[in-house]
Amino acid sequence: MDSYDIFLVAPPGLEHLVAAEARDCGFQGVTQVPGGVNVTGPLADVVRANRELRGPARVLLRIASFRAMHLAQLDKRSRKVDWASIIPQGSALHVEASCRKSKIYHNKAAAQRVATAASEAIAGTVDADAVIRLKVRIEDDMVTISIDTSGDALHKRGHKGAMGKAPIRENLAALCLRACDFRPDEPLVDPMCGSGTFPIEAAELAAGVIPGRSRGFAFDHLALDVDPVPPVPPIAATTRFFGFDRDQGAVKSAADNAAQAGVADWTRFACQPLSDLTPPTPQPGLIMINPPYGGRIGNKKQLYGLYGAFGQIVKDRFAGWRVGMVTSEPSLAKATGLDWADPVGPFPNGGIRVTLYRSECL
Ligand SMILES: C[S@@+](CC[C@H](N)C(=O)[O-])C[C@H]1O[C@@H](n2cnc3c(N)ncnc32)[C@H](O)[C@@H]1O
Repeated sequence: MDSYDIFLVAPPGLEHLVAAEARDCGFQGVTQVPGGVNVTGPLADVVRANRELRGPARVLLRIASFRAMHLAQLDKRSRKVDWASIIPQGSALHVEASCRKSKIYHNKAAAQRVATAASEAIAGTVDADAVIRLKVRIEDDMVTISIDTSGDALHKRGHKGAMGKAPIRENLAALCLRACDFRPDEPLVDPMCGSGTFPIEAAELAAGVIPGRSRGFAFDHLALDVDPVPPVPPIAATTRFFGFDRDQGAVKSAADNAAQAGVADWTRFACQPLSDLTPPTPQPGLIMINPPYGGRIGNKKQLYGLYGAFGQIVKDRFAGWRVGMVTSEPSLAKATGLDWADPVGPFPNGGIRVTLYRSECL
């Protein structure tokens, strides 16, 4: 069986967590590089990576790599690629290129050469809105051509209707849970849950459902043998993933999103201010929180009090629980008065650099 190079695009700063997830899911040849993780495997692994991994932002399949010193050589070598083995006849495609430290320096000209070679080989068309998208990287005169097999970024699980004010991306939430050693058999509480991303990701892990079970992917349009998503035997749900928020609209959206994701029975959402927070289960677990930060919503100065109150409440009421907190400012993390060990990041979330702070058991 042919083995391919598959690249898992990772949030910068969280590559190690994506690598750990890939290893846990049985992918081979896992190596971490800045911006992602390389794995090797058959084409079926492209499908599996897209459907089953929670951390990557997207999955690229390498289809060619060769040296080219000038555009005529790029054109000639691109025409030797077996495009038809991956891209169905008559498809529309789009190519983007980036050149670094190379004799070929013109991104658009490079993209155009590859686009012409590929589209002619499959009697297709070139279209900026095409679902099939090729990425050409030219670095030190080495050309690498990959195909984006994901389409929409993978944080879009396909279940979320309502978004809330400043949601954390699902793949970042999943990686934060991993970084906090979350175990699906322990409870989780998000006291400021917004659209419910943390409890829903936690519930999906407990329910044993894969993140890409109901969305479409770019690979649906490629010449790949794709098996249907296998049904999962249902696991009896126990409600142990909780989300609270003072905003009734956020709570409703979180509950709707959990229902759409099929994990309503695992989760409970309620309108409640932070000041009323108490442990919802006798068994301790993980508190995951992504409070407002100044850059995006709220005024930073007023937030110090909120962070301080959060730290005091969990110290007073949540003995035995661990805390994971995502925020943008070290000073806000410090204002909680909690002992943070070994922060993870910073990593970008919606254009803002955030860090995950983690506590030991309180
Ligand atoms: C950054 S958003 C959380 C986003 C969430 N992680 C998601 O993925 O959608 C912060 C949330 O904190 C809530 N919040 C702010 N102050 C609060 C308080 N005192 N008590 C409860 N919730 C609060 C806001 O309503 C908002 O939904």
